[in-house]
Amino acid sequence: MTPARLQSLARPQAPGPPTGAGPTYDGVAIEPPADDSFMDPASYFSEALFELEQRVVFPQSWIFAADLSMLKEPGDYATETIGGEPVMVVRDSDGGLRAFLNVCPHRASTLVEGAGNCGRRLVCPYHGWTFELDGRLVGIPRQKGFEGDIDWGAHGLREVAVDVWEQFVFVNVSGAAPSLLEWLHPLPEQLAGHGLSDPSRVYEIDDLVDSNWKIMMDNAFCDYHLEFVHAESIGVYADPASITEELWDYTGRLTTRWTPEQLSAIGVRPGLSGAAASGAFAYSVFPNWFIAVFPNGGASVMWWTPVSLRQTRARVWNYSPDPDGDHRADYEQLRAVQREDYAICEKVQRGLASRFYRPGPQHYLELRIRGFQQRLMAMLADHLATDP
Ligand code: FES
Ligand SMILES: [Fe+2]
Repeated sequence: MTPARLQSLARPQAPGPPTGAGPTYDGVAIEPPADDSFMDPASYFSEALFELEQRVVFPQSWIFAADLSMLKEPGDYATETIGGEPVMVVRDSDGGLRAFLNVCPHRASTLVEGAGNCGRRLVCPYHGWTFELDGRLVGIPRQKGFEGDIDWGAHGLREVAVDVWEQFVFVNVSGAAPSLLEWLHPLPEQLAGHGLSDPSRVYEIDDLVDSNWKIMMDNAFCDYHLEFVHAESIGVYADPASITEELWDYTGRLTTRWTPEQLSAIGVRPGLSGAAASGAFAYSVFPNWFIAVFPNGGASVMWWTPVSLRQTRARVWNYSPDPDGDHRADYEQLRAVQREDYAICEKVQRGLASRFYRPGPQHYLELRIRGFQQRLMAMLADHLATDP
């Protein structure tokens, strides 16, 4: 990760909720924005709302946590932070995939860090409590030092829901989300011909950005800025005349049509037809995942993890059907796109802090932002209605 820069921004309180007369939380209007507008700008500046998003939105959602290349053998594990919760995914002794809170039931140390292989059992680094790969507690050092009998069954690892689409592994901490297939609908059907289990990860990017995570999501799901902010990098792919936008429950899609020259430069995966063979797709998956899928069968996965109210971890994993090829030009182009995006997110963060700003109208190329903001606010409003 690149080092953090501290930035201090506080949005002065606007005189009353700026949108509608619905419920508020810490002075922020909590209601899905109208189709032609955007959510309350104060939502980007509330510490209390940030904590609520972490506690409600991330645990209730399917969150990307790993890919299957990290989880081949028993004991292989990957970690992720979901709504502030340390989580791990592990390949168990029977070959199944399991996910647990990465928190020791004794004194709460995390059990594993990063990714790797933990061997046949998980051993806590603090006092050596030992767990099977299915989460059962099987070893306690110096056991006689504890008073009374230990209830072994009560001190296993806390399991959470995990599921896989193609090679992408998702975790749902609450266990209450719709199935992963429903969550991702219609990606599994629409991308069945792309063979997304096949391509290999060829490079990774991991940045820390001085921007609220929702500003970064708005920008990631914005297709209006492409020809302007990215004029020098990928603007050539962003002619609005070649773009269509669609929205589903938790997902949205940008479809671009490429020129014959652009298609022949990258190649088309055999078996693809229609829109899949004539351009690229970019899918948004609520709340923080993005996958761009290219006609050659390659893909870029991006996701954004809130670190604090004003800081976000931005990651990219790039997949190619040609892992031995030279991907430097591709990498440099993506770095340029990211520099452009990070710079504009920091500008938006500064401008949103103006107490005179009210959301402007919404362009049709901002449809995927609408999907993100309406789902986010609906989830928060549902939560507050039952647990104010
Ligand atoms: S915190 Fe894990 S064994 Fe004590
Ligand atoms: Fe961008």
